Amino acid sequence: MRPLTIKIIHDEHSALAAMLRSIPLLLAEQRRHMTLPDAAGFAALRALLFYVDEFPERRHHPKESQLLFPKLRARAPEIRPLLDRLDEDHLRGERAIRDLEHALLGFEMMGEARRAAFEVMAERYVRAYLQHMELEEREILPLALQVLSPQDWAELDDAFATNKDPLTGHLPEAEYEQLFQKVLRAVPAPLGLGPAL
Ligand SMILES: [Fe+2]
Ligand SMILES: [Fe+2]
Repeated sequence: MRPLTIKIIHDEHSALAAMLRSIPLLLAEQRRHMTLPDAAGFAALRALLFYVDEFPERRHHPKESQLLFPKLRARAPEIRPLLDRLDEDHLRGERAIRDLEHALLGFEMMGEARRAAFEVMAERYVRAYLQHMELEEREILPLALQVLSPQDWAELDDAFATNKDPLTGHLPEAEYEQLFQKVLRAVPAPLGLGPAL
């Protein structure tokens, strides 16, 4: 049977990917109409970035870096360089999201003059994030299934089970449920954050 940890990581990745992909879609929509986002548009962008900052940066990545990766380092030394790279991504992630949030504020305050800068930064951030998750799914998770013991999985499943995300359908903790509902209300429905996930 597939360990709960793997399922949670996959679910959180798809939820996060949906959020991330909404950002360039929102931006492209505005550019196509040659408009700047209105107050609701900026609120949607702020909500998406805040969620990415709150949930994955503070909950998802730390569990990978502190729980899963150390076990893999011990059991599969050959994968250490790749784990180093992913750990670095996690470390850099916090700064990157902060910079992006600041760039969004610049766009909101300064308008057109800061649009392109924010678009480029957002595009780069989203691409790097999607690649990071793809790498974990392609290289790390299959290897973990091969080398970790039932005892390892029992420990990980226990820890990951408390790491819940409303978007993935796990029972949410109250504060994340509220945050999730806010993001959902802020982002226009056609962009696909609805129940289809
Ligand atoms: Fe990660
Ligand atoms: Fe991940």
